[in-house]
Amino acid sequence: MKESSTDLVLVLDFGAQYAQLIARRVREARVYCEIAAYSVSAEAVASRKPRALILSGGPASVYEERAPGVDPKIYELGIPILGICYGMQLMARDLGGAVSPHVSREFGKCSLAIGESASPLFEGVSPATQCWMSHGDTVLQPPPGFKVLASSANTPVAAMGDEERNLYGVQFHPEVVHTPEGSRIISNFLYKIAGCRGDWTAESFVDQAVRSIRQQIGEGKAVCALSGGVDSTVAAVLVHRAIGDALTCVFVDHGLLRKGEAEEVVGVLSNKLGMKLVTVDASERFLAKLKGVEDPEQKRKIIGTEFIRIFEDEAARIQDVKYLVQGTLYPDVIESGTGSKAGAAAVIKSHHNVGGLPSDMRLELVEPLRQLFKDEVRRVGLVLGLPEEVVYRQPFPGPGLAVRIIGEVDREKLKTLREADAIVREEIGKAGLSRSIWQYFAVLTDLRSVGVMGDKRTYGRMVAVRAITSEDGMTADWARLPDAVLERIASRIVNEVHGVNRVVYDITSKPPATIEWE
Ligand code: XMP
Repeated sequence: MKESSTDLVLVLDFGAQYAQLIARRVREARVYCEIAAYSVSAEAVASRKPRALILSGGPASVYEERAPGVDPKIYELGIPILGICYGMQLMARDLGGAVSPHVSREFGKCSLAIGESASPLFEGVSPATQCWMSHGDTVLQPPPGFKVLASSANTPVAAMGDEERNLYGVQFHPEVVHTPEGSRIISNFLYKIAGCRGDWTAESFVDQAVRSIRQQIGEGKAVCALSGGVDSTVAAVLVHRAIGDALTCVFVDHGLLRKGEAEEVVGVLSNKLGMKLVTVDASERFLAKLKGVEDPEQKRKIIGTEFIRIFEDEAARIQDVKYLVQGTLYPDVIESGTGSKAGAAAVIKSHHNVGGLPSDMRLELVEPLRQLFKDEVRRVGLVLGLPEEVVYRQPFPGPGLAVRIIGEVDREKLKTLREADAIVREEIGKAGLSRSIWQYFAVLTDLRSVGVMGDKRTYGRMVAVRAITSEDGMTADWARLPDAVLERIASRIVNEVHGVNRVVYDITSKPPATIEWE
């Protein structure tokens, strides 16, 4: 658990589209923040000693039957509260104000007029600022003790506050980018109203995490399955810092990695950071199992099962292991945990890359990144001394290149794809685009087509290039790569990669397509 020395802010989630975004904004302001179910009791809230509470938006209307609400004792805890959208309407209703449904719906950007009476919530915010609204219900009358702090054309009570009790509400969404001064408003609430100290930094996280890992593991031994991805690598390095050689990392090279990948992982972890690393070269074993298999789902299943078997064998070889380190991130925890399900404890989703380890392994999980978002993991990685190439590595699927070769996987196709993929990565890196593009890679299709090289007719393979922008991999858009970059990629692939005579660029978004081709 986190130590109580760091300031904590709790976001009570009413099923908001934006609850995670609120938590992110708070953390960007260097204040540690967690999302909790709206139904959490005042007692449970008080026991966490939060500096502030934020009531999120949500799809319900406060006058609906069974509209979600908070434990009313929460308002009496003396903890500063900011209600956003639904959260504000709820606060207004609960404390004796009036909320009206459907009087003046407002959706989208609008202009916000900050009231004359100076409120710490709007300190330093322009008197006429832009904000983003999305609501049907409206607060008509703030509760006794509250002042109207801002209004818009259709929303006379766009913000309200009770400075005595430190209770505030905003009808608009300060957490979205369409409210350009929103971060300022959130910071004002955190610092000027709730007195937060801004003590959430990557360095402070590392110190705390190392202490709590030591507490959890004590003198025990741990293993970590490394995929070479950012999350498992950072988790392993953090645990290594805490328990040293009591951690053994197992890196299963399934032979489906990108060019230079296995060497890079081993080089950094073992040679540079001095970690105990068992590398299992299992490429023969995987390729033998994949022989003749064309169906993508079947390929995935074979790889997943084989991975687990090999990892189990290796873990059994290291005796007396009690702990398994995994790089589970906060979004995975929230997705499967709190949300609007009253009081539900966080359920842990199994790591994609390890994919449901068998229960008879009976290892206790160590998940030091459970509180972090991806960008925070990257900052922690840098603090731990990991090189930027590792920290900013693009996501790579557990089944590796097998999902980027259409049809049967064999050694020759892997070689072809690795070469083509290395060119894509190199050119995107050279163009300085590797940080702005979420993923970029080559796919080896099962199509052949006619070409001409020199004076000779060729009948070669077709490579597809995929480059996408995304926030989280759930939706994606194709990256508008400069023509010159696409041209260099295509010309280098057909010239340098034997057997490839055609390159196409994938311009579908997700949905309807997926990121990987499979
Ligand atoms: P799709 O293809 O479903 O991919 O749009 C979404 C994101 O997930 C990655 N991906 C995986 N990651 N294990 C992983 O760790 C997997 O089995 C896996 N399959 C897809 C994909 O690269 C993209 O970032």
